[in-house]
Amino acid sequence: MDKLLITGGRPLEGTVPISGAKNAALPIMAATLLASGVHTLRNVPRLRDTRTFARVLELLGAKVAFDGNVCTIDSTGVNSVEAPYELVKTMRASIYVLAPLLARFGAARVSLPGGCAWGPRPVNLHLSGLQAMGAALDIEHGYIVGRDVKLIGGRFGFDVVSVGATAQLMMAAVLAQGTTVLENVAVEPDVTALGDALVACGARIEGLGSRNLTIHGVATLKPIDATIIPDRIEAATFAAAAAMTGGRLRLERVVPAHFEAVLRKLEEAGSTVERAPDAVTVTGPSRPRAVNVVTQPFPGFPTDMQAQMIAVCALASGTSLIEDTVYLDRFTHVPELARMGASIELRGNVAVVRGVDRLYGAPVMATDLRASASLVLAGLAANGDTLIDRIYHLDRGYETLEKKLGAVGARIERIS
Ligand code: EPU
Repeated sequence: MDKLLITGGRPLEGTVPISGAKNAALPIMAATLLASGVHTLRNVPRLRDTRTFARVLELLGAKVAFDGNVCTIDSTGVNSVEAPYELVKTMRASIYVLAPLLARFGAARVSLPGGCAWGPRPVNLHLSGLQAMGAALDIEHGYIVGRDVKLIGGRFGFDVVSVGATAQLMMAAVLAQGTTVLENVAVEPDVTALGDALVACGARIEGLGSRNLTIHGVATLKPIDATIIPDRIEAATFAAAAAMTGGRLRLERVVPAHFEAVLRKLEEAGSTVERAPDAVTVTGPSRPRAVNVVTQPFPGFPTDMQAQMIAVCALASGTSLIEDTVYLDRFTHVPELARMGASIELRGNVAVVRGVDRLYGAPVMATDLRASASLVLAGLAANGDTLIDRIYHLDRGYETLEKKLGAVGARIERIS
């Protein structure tokens, strides 16, 4: 199993090109099932998760080809409606195929994802939303099963804001008969990007970017031709790397507004941020100041940056309170950071981070994608060598991470 060896203590300086967003690419890849034909997706990050999603589509009968970051998906020959447990258990986002299969074929057999490393992560909203649109779904032997489904317009209000369920119901509604009203939807850029891609191929969606959507079903859609938006979490992770190492990084090919909540926190912690229309330059302080953070759905501070922000605060002067209100148990990085000398006390879903003067390199273990990113940040700022095990988690969500970090001065090496 590959490991990453990082020798820390160097400020990072230079330019980092930011890749396409994993969490925007995955639902758009699923949406290619909605229309028969050849779809072209550009700026798709080459990651384990996009490869896994390609596998899911291939199992359904699609043909998927990558040429660099251009992904061509021919969904003409899709002839299966089953997404098996073996794949869904490795990537929860596989559940995105559910609505497109129901919309196009009136049937689906999709494994329930089960738990995840940091908690239950239910899919009840996906199911009750689809049921509100006329889909009778059964749970059979661990699978969500729909037969003879005819999606019809309905009204569904989310009691919890959900990125995944919003994307799922959008995909169901665009081909449903009649009009669907979705209330209290997620407005994450990834969700809006899916909506934009659907509108460009003929869907009728009103209110994109707002909390309420009205979707008028259409009979058919044209194939998708879309460019995936920049990855705001990758960009924010590099911004945190500049902040934490006292470096200066220019992040190119970004939409600054997509990670403004993180940039503001880094400014509050002492970084200087220069914003351009499609680039951001972050200059870190000699030592960050403590800040308090509460994660929220977009446009709030993203839960996907909670672990990385804890790493920044681990070295700050003063005590920071980092609260995750989206996922209450997403703290598997805390004991690993403690092995590097961080002083963090968990009180329920709040991490009390008492900044220390120094972190020390240590052998640590990656437990999930963003937890791994926090260990990389800590390793970059620590004294000595950090050896991170199980980095396949990182490969799920950061395209050529060690290459990008190496190019801006990090001493980082993948050991096979
Ligand atoms: N929730 C429910 N019921 C549901 C769905 C969600 O109660 O049916 C709850 C969740 O338990 C959570 C909250 O709603 O408390 C928000 O979850 P959401 O559905 O928004 O999360 P998701 O769609 O499963 C996506 C990203 C995650 C990111 C979250 C929150 C993708 C593929 N995944 O997950 O990304 O943390 O939104 O922003 O888009 C990552 O990239 O590392 C990652 C985990």
